[in-house]
Amino acid sequence: CFIGIDIGTSTCKTLALDADGAVVAHASADYPLVTPRPGWAEQDPELWWQAAAATVSAVTAQLGAHCVEAIGLTGQMHGLVPLDEEDRVIRPAMLWCDQRAAPQCQALTRRVGGLPALLALSSNRMLPGFTGGKFLWLAEHEPDAFARMRRFLNPKDYLRLRMTGVHATDVSDASGTGLLDVRRRRWSPELLAAAGLTDEQVPDVFESTEVTGGLAPEVAAAWGLPAGLPVVAGGGDSVLQTTSQGIVEAGSIGITIGTAGIVGGAARRCPDNPGGLVQVSCGNAPDRWHVMGVSLNAGGSFQWLKETLEPLAHGELGFDRLAALAGSAPAGAAGLMFLPYLMGERCPHVAPDGRGAWVGLTRGHGLGHMARAVMEGALLNMRAILDLFAEAGLACDRLRASGGATASRVWLELLADVAGRPVATVSGASEGGAFGAALLAGVGAGHWPSLDAAVGVVHETGRVDPDPGRARVYDAIHPIHKSLYATLRATFA
Ligand code: XUL
Repeated sequence: CFIGIDIGTSTCKTLALDADGAVVAHASADYPLVTPRPGWAEQDPELWWQAAAATVSAVTAQLGAHCVEAIGLTGQMHGLVPLDEEDRVIRPAMLWCDQRAAPQCQALTRRVGGLPALLALSSNRMLPGFTGGKFLWLAEHEPDAFARMRRFLNPKDYLRLRMTGVHATDVSDASGTGLLDVRRRRWSPELLAAAGLTDEQVPDVFESTEVTGGLAPEVAAAWGLPAGLPVVAGGGDSVLQTTSQGIVEAGSIGITIGTAGIVGGAARRCPDNPGGLVQVSCGNAPDRWHVMGVSLNAGGSFQWLKETLEPLAHGELGFDRLAALAGSAPAGAAGLMFLPYLMGERCPHVAPDGRGAWVGLTRGHGLGHMARAVMEGALLNMRAILDLFAEAGLACDRLRASGGATASRVWLELLADVAGRPVATVSGASEGGAFGAALLAGVGAGHWPSLDAAVGVVHETGRVDPDPGRARVYDAIHPIHKSLYATLRATFA
């Protein structure tokens, strides 16, 4: 069998897949996120190591070590783990959700000649969470730490270093540093120079399915596994999430609705990203690229509404009750619209200062209309991301959905109606990145000849078709909803 380890933001999830791609064992362990100041987010990499050790040992205890053929790694993207000469961690890791380096991202963009020049080098904006800006912050605010930094790694790659002694990353996670030439799948010399880094300070870049090294004997003994077990490069969690949905080709697009919403697709050539509004990264197979739009406000807006109403509901209001109320209101919520930017927004608008808004309220609107407008607002926002995908050349005729909200029939039907496309649920994707990492391990070990063959184990578990009448309502509302941000923007400042 094949093990996948996912170093998430709050939890390490480890699972094992058998030769047919069925999950045969899993374990998880939590660790805290530290916010020393508002907007900062840090973690001690030692906690990832301990969580990985505990979960892998639990999984191998369930299975027996003899069956494990390879390990694949995934984890939160964009984090910076700075290492000294002896590979010791210099300071806590700065994570993807750490916003402190926003001014440094702008400075780095200016250093290379502005946004169009940056997009030509990396295919991406330098978003505040990306690794690139964090180097400039470190050089400016903790110069001693920056001077001592011999190398850097992303979170999952720190785990690999402890497991194998190798400094390596994979193309999809490296894309999230903002310093990779995504089109050519190698570090950009211009961007490394702009971040103040030399070639020796960055990890070697491998394709996701390549073997990067073998499990060190002392680690193997502690984890109950054979020494030298192949450790495969793996991938960034958000990219692997789309791969885990079985999406490695254009045609289908994956939607994940958790607190945030991820829209992800695959292409056989590196797409253009003219305004830098989507994230483009290398895909998990050598001839594939990945496009992603992350909305910070998907299920989170609905969760906000539930939590806000709960004190009035004399006990638990519950997602299902609120979703049922929303389901009983008419499509279009009788003219009520909701702009979901309660957390600011990353995509379809780069709007860190964005705000939410109700538009069109009348005395005729009740709680059902309000709940429906919140769901519609979140999904229309995701449809706007699909429009950006179409502009980048990634049209799609069907969607695959996963994430907490898709357990609800109301959400699934609304997604099909708002997007005007059939929506399928799939096996495996609910396990997230760890499932994809284990598939990559299976390819690296030679069990599947390619990633395309490996994702053959992902199958559709259900399908919802759009209702033509409701879909027409959303076709009419979509352009109006899409224009709300530009109209209201000045009021958010
Ligand atoms: C992707 C992103 C997050 C992190 C955390 O760009 O910022 O999804 O990878 O999981």
